[in-house]
Amino acid sequence: MGTRLERKLAFITGACSGIGQATAELFIAEGARVLAADIQDEAGAALEARFPGRLKYARCDVTQPAQIQAAIDRAAAEFGGLDIVFNNAGAGGQRGGMEEMTVEGWDQTMNLLLRSVMCGTMYALPHLKARGGGAIVNTASISALAAGYAPVAYSTAKAAVLHFSKVTAADLARHRIRVNAVVPGFIATQIFGTGFGLDRAGAEAMAATLSERGAKLQPAARVGRAGDVAEAVLYLCSDAASFVTGTHIVVDGGMTIGPRSSWDPEVPNAVREALGITPEMLQALADAAKAKARG
Ligand code: NAI
Repeated sequence: MGTRLERKLAFITGACSGIGQATAELFIAEGARVLAADIQDEAGAALEARFPGRLKYARCDVTQPAQIQAAIDRAAAEFGGLDIVFNNAGAGGQRGGMEEMTVEGWDQTMNLLLRSVMCGTMYALPHLKARGGGAIVNTASISALAAGYAPVAYSTAKAAVLHFSKVTAADLARHRIRVNAVVPGFIATQIFGTGFGLDRAGAEAMAATLSERGAKLQPAARVGRAGDVAEAVLYLCSDAASFVTGTHIVVDGGMTIGPRSSWDPEVPNAVREALGITPEMLQALADAAKAKARG
């Protein structure tokens, strides 16, 4: 048990699985009380039973603004205030690129991933102001930084979440409210399976497969876990980050450092290949440099 969030009152969306659940558990271990907002009633009840008096579950579909407002108001009423908001709930949304796009899919994805974050911020504002300040963290994604990691609608929504975090940090600084984002890479959670239409058990099996096989996806040479992201969220919400606002922490095991060839010696460097530079030429250069150094 730590004390980094002692007496803090937190609202977390998507708290019944993956990154949100790991964050709820870590927050509680650090002294916070948590209102866990999600649409998984059974999992929510199980969490309440695990953390009596420390965690309350609220059914809250984040695509429904009125439900977000009701859950936030309930958190503030039950706990006597609100210090921390983690706008995290999400799913894959509209699959594919522009050839698969539909207006409905686009709107649903934006409502789930972006409007929800705006609503979580807007409805929490009076409660955070009443406490004299607070911390908001929003979950973005490495798909906000570059193409190739996720579908078009999802990636666009996450890029907007990143920018929203910056502009609201500026807007809310006068109220002593800090706003930051976390930017996860590939984290072994159920989100991949649910995106393929699997039920939660099937999605958990797919997460386990990613856990077994995902080490080679990134330079860190191990799979990303929900707890890795939770640690970053804890830091951003704690007093240790009181001078940190309007920015983000990338938790991706180095996946976005650069092209795979920059860190994986088994992958050929495409630029060198395009220049016609062969491994033999590089070896000859290295040998010549060594010979020169030896005199
Ligand atoms: P997860 O599937 O394990 O957890 C997502 C949670 O959000 C679930 O408990 C689900 O019930 C809840 N949720 C989904 N739709 C909801 C709705 N309409 N209203 C309320 N709750 C809803 O997935 P994970 O990975 O923990 O996802 C959390 C966040 O992290 C999401 O925003 C996701 O986009 C983001 N993320 C995840 C990455 C990964 O590799 N797992 C990478 C980058 C970002």
